[in-house]
Amino acid sequence: MPGRKSEYRRRKQKPEGNRNTSSAAEPAFLAKARSDGEREILSRLDPNRIPRHVAIIMDGNGRWARRRRLPRLFGHRQGMETVREILKAARDLDIEYVTLYAFSAENWHRPRKEVSGLMHLLKEYLRKEVDELDESNVKMLTIGTIDKLPAYARTELIRVRERLKKNTGQKLVLALNYGGRDEIVKMTRRIASEVARGKLKPSRITEDILPDYLDTAGIPDPDLMIRTSGEMRLSNFLLWQLAYAELIITDTLWPDYSRLEFFIAIAEYQRRERRFGGIGGDEDKERP
Ligand code: FPP
Repeated sequence: MPGRKSEYRRRKQKPEGNRNTSSAAEPAFLAKARSDGEREILSRLDPNRIPRHVAIIMDGNGRWARRRRLPRLFGHRQGMETVREILKAARDLDIEYVTLYAFSAENWHRPRKEVSGLMHLLKEYLRKEVDELDESNVKMLTIGTIDKLPAYARTELIRVRERLKKNTGQKLVLALNYGGRDEIVKMTRRIASEVARGKLKPSRITEDILPDYLDTAGIPDPDLMIRTSGEMRLSNFLLWQLAYAELIITDTLWPDYSRLEFFIAIAEYQRRERRFGGIGGDEDKERP
């Protein structure tokens, strides 16, 4: 197995980055504030404790449209604008990984027109945004079974992923036709096949090597998961990877979710103490 850090070391590792200090005393992201409100929140953020990976369940597009007596697709289209805004906000904070739950394995059960609308929207988004993503040095990764997507969306996805492959900045992870249980089934098959071929001993299957067989292999676990529109569920999202993530659930519907609210979520994350099953603080270190 490629040298993987032990789970213990990974959990103990400081997840947050230290990439936000400018030459001046104030953090570089303060200059990105677009309003007094944003500046106020940003000035409270600790640049050394920005989460490395934020995962988002973008929920509430349908309700946003219904409240305006509009077709659901209008909500998804407005949701696409929020995607642009929030990814920009995450780049302003230098967040290294952002994972978006863009289409779940269960979303196929929606009316055919909505599914096709979402797929066309994905294609449109990729076409419109690829230049800016490239200029911003963003690399795009996908998780989920993307070969089941319609050819027009899949082709665009692969084209954009290839074009951004060389980039070294933020990693945008799109979860498409993704389901946590499906991912665990695929992982089990991959492991079983290595065992059957004599490449892996069952005794070597541990918590440390298991993530290497997930779709997210090589991607650190999310530090923070945000879900919009108030539902208190994981909805089959990153079931293994979210084990120790902080969860923030807001009533705001995704199309209304703003940069300011995103920055407030990061401030809330920084107020929380992550204990990874320990008891926290210095007392953790005293234990055997
Ligand atoms: C859930 O809202 C949202 C989705 C199933 C799709 C998310 C898609 C986007 C935000 C737009 C495109 C994304 C990209 C990456 C280009 P819902 O329809 O379940 O809302 P509801 O619960 O109010 O009905």
